[in-house]
Formats: sequence, structure tokens, C-alpha cells
Amino acid sequence: MSAFIVLGSQWGDEGKGKMTDYLAKGADVVVRFQGGNNAGHTVEVGDKQYKLHLVPSGILYKDKVNVIGNGVVLDPKALFEEMDYLKDLGVDISPENLIISDRAQLIMPYHKVLDGIKERARGKKDIGTTGKGIGPCYTDKMERSGIRVCDLMHQNIFEENLKENLKIKNDIITKVYGEKALDFDTIYNEYIDYAKKLAPYVKDISVEVYNSIKGGKKVLFEGAQGTLLDIDYGTYPYVTSSSTIAGGVCIGSGIGPTMITGAVGIAKAYTTRVGKGPFPTELFDKTGEWIRENGHEYGVTTGRARRCGWLDLVILKTSSRVSGLTSFAITKIDTLAGLEKVKACVGYKFNGKIIDYVPASLEDLAKCEPVYEEFEGWGREIENAKTYNELPQNAKKYLSRIEEFTGTKVSIVSVGPRRDQTIDVSEI
Ligand code: GDP
Ligand code: IMO
Ligand code: MG
Repeated sequence: MSAFIVLGSQWGDEGKGKMTDYLAKGADVVVRFQGGNNAGHTVEVGDKQYKLHLVPSGILYKDKVNVIGNGVVLDPKALFEEMDYLKDLGVDISPENLIISDRAQLIMPYHKVLDGIKERARGKKDIGTTGKGIGPCYTDKMERSGIRVCDLMHQNIFEENLKENLKIKNDIITKVYGEKALDFDTIYNEYIDYAKKLAPYVKDISVEVYNSIKGGKKVLFEGAQGTLLDIDYGTYPYVTSSSTIAGGVCIGSGIGPTMITGAVGIAKAYTTRVGKGPFPTELFDKTGEWIRENGHEYGVTTGRARRCGWLDLVILKTSSRVSGLTSFAITKIDTLAGLEKVKACVGYKFNGKIIDYVPASLEDLAKCEPVYEEFEGWGREIENAKTYNELPQNAKKYLSRIEEFTGTKVSIVSVGPRRDQTIDVSEI
């Protein structure tokens, strides 16, 4: 029995797409369990690059089943655009290799409008969301007015739900924010069209995933975003609206925690963040710019420049704790090649003490001063390393310190974006 989790350990964009694709070679099923098309996961195979948002990163193999779980918020327009994009790149998608939960919540046009309106209303306190309607859709789910995929499958139920929702949303859009109302018929017709196209893919995915695990198949769960964007353990309110940590897997795919066999946390060898919010090890100098350019740190979903900084081991330790990580995969260690010295944060100085956890209050986090350890750098030869032994000595020392500080082993090291630029260090 095998059910293995791939999670982001920082603020997203750690290389989850690349690592899920890599690990998917030994899996039968790949499941997205939370988030939506706010995610942007890049996979590179040979000279081809694929940018995935909603479709799980197992899709590039012909024989894997890919699952969009009930915890996902699904924008059907975005899904069909992504399927067309993938078809153009020669990727076959059919109900044989993609299934969608009947319980997934639908992102509606008013969610996207409200995402934008609310961000503008927050003014200087805006979160810097991706604008995909994620927060407003999860809000409706919890408020119990959301529309699920199974509701869309019943025309009369969908019509009723849409009418009720649109009335309230249009009141908010026009009366509170003074913007233009959305038209019922346009949305209704558009979504009824999607209903026909979605129908062959829709299933009770809990049954599928459970039976796969019980039947001895290997199931991989692909996280979106990362620990510090988690709704509970992230830098609230500068977070996304879902559970990005291991606990989210069970809720978002309908299986129990006793079925999970392990969890690998993906972490960049440095730290990035896109959008607003605290970032203790952020670099505002030439080194930060150098990392951004060298690492091509620009968002896959929004194209925004990512903020860059040193590796924060307090964050990795937090990630390991809240998700019970069994190992780390360290990516983009090649990006740091060429720096004479590399730093990593090994604690926060807070009220005269050194702490090794992320405080809940942003006021307290703002007072935290990173304590750094300095490491000797390594050279570009790292890109060609094929085994752990071929890694430069200084890079190995850096990796050892990550293991020592977090109490969690490093099982994989990634030295480039391609599938073949990946080194297995130990059993995951
Ligand atoms: P995700 O959201 O976690 O899937 O990550 P993104 O795809 O948003 O961002 C990671 C970026 O780093 C992508 O452009 C990947 O192709 C690239 N990448 C992943 N691993 C490595 C690596 O080890 N080295 C380098 N240079 N690039 C990598
Ligand atoms: P992947 O899966 C990085 C960030 C946004 C914003 C906050 C809330 O590619 O790692 P949202 O639209 O979710 O309400 O935005 O979360 N964010 C991400 N940052 N990678 C992501 O996904 C992200 N998804 C959301 O920038 O700060
Ligand atoms: Mg990304």
C-alpha cells in the first residue's frame, strides 16, 4: 500500500511540478487535493516545457491516472484552456487519464470579479492574490452556498443555485462596490456548455483513490502552494485559502490519515515569495537581484517578479513539523552556483531569545531578526552532477546542515529544471 505526498515547504514555486513529474514515473495515480489554477507548476522533459495549473503533473506519462480532488476549486474555463494547451503540445487527455471529483467546488465568474474588487478595496493591505477567484470560491464553500461539480450536472439545481448566488453577489458588486452586475443568461449558458464537456470526467474520486491504494497501486498527492501560504500555518492573512499542508490531503481527496505512507517537502535552496506579506530572509540588494535573474524567478501564473532571499531553515523545520515530512527534496541548488558565500537562517532573534518556529502574529514575526550561518559557495559543475558523490563538497555541507537543523533527511537533490537533472540521495 502506498500513498505518498509531495508538498511545497516555503511560499510556493519550490519545484513541486518538476518533482511530482519525476516521482510519478513510479506511481499509478497522481492527485491534486487543494488549490486551483492559482498554482503554476512547470515540468521540463528534454527540450519541452509544460506549464500546468489545474491538471496534475502526472499527465505527461501515458499510463497514469490523474485526479482533480474534491478539495480543489475548479474553474472550468481555465481547465478547458489548459487541456487545449496540452493537446497542442501532444499530450493526450481523456476520461481514461483524467478524473474530476463530483464534489469539487466551481469557480464562477463572480468569484473572479470579487477577487479583484476585494483586493482593490484592501488598498495598501492587499494580499497580492493571483486574481483567479480562489478566496471568494473557498469562502462560499465554507459558507455553504458554493456550487459543486455534481450540482452543475443537474441543470435545474444549477439554475436555482446560480440564481440565488448571483442575486446576492450582484447586490454586493453593485450596492457595496458600485460596479457592474453580471448577467445570469451569459453565465448559465456558458456553464451548461461546460457541464456537457465535463460530464465524462466526473466521478466520486474518494472511491477511486481509496480502491487504488487498497488494490496496491501507488498514489502520489501533488500539493499546490506551500506551508507558509497555508490558511492555518501560513503568514495569515497573506496566505491562500486552502490547507496546503499534509492534513489537506485527507480532506481534499477523501481518504484517511492511516493510509498515508510518507511525505516529501520540496524546498528551494534559497527562498522566494510572490505577492505581499512578511519574508524575514528577503534580500533587497544585488545578491537578491542576482538570484532572481539567475533562477528566472518570475511567476508561472501571473508573470510577477518573485521576491528572493536566503534559505530559511526555521521555515523548513516548521514545514517538517506541521506536515510530518519524512524527507526533503532540495531544488535549484544549481542557481546558487557562483556565489562566493551562501547564507542560511538558523533561528530568529525575538525578544532577546533565539526561537526556531514561525510566530503566529505578524507583529511578532516583524520583530524577528534572522540569525545566519555562512557557507562556502560552489561552482557551476553542480549542474552536471549525476550522483550525490559528484556534488561539490561545499554543496554537500549545505545539505547536511539542512538535515541536521530540521531533523529530516534530504532524499532528492535537483540540479536543473529537467527531469534528468535529479539526484536520488536516499529512499523517499
Ligand atoms: P512549483 O509551483 O512548485 O511547481 O514551481 P514553479 O514551476 O512555479 O517554479 C519552479 C521553477 O524552477 C520552474 O521554472 C522549474 O522549471 C524550475 N526548476 C525546478 N527545479 C529546478 C532546479 O533544480 N534547478 C533549476 N535551475 N530550475 C529548477
Ligand atoms: P504554486 O502551486 C506562489 C500566493 C499569491 C498570493 C497568495 C494568495 O505554483 O506554488 P490566491 O490567488 O491563492 O488567493 O493568492 O498566495 N500564491 C502563490 N504563490 N505559488 C503559488 O502556487 C501560489 N498560489 C497562490 O501570490 O500571495
Ligand atoms: Mg508555481
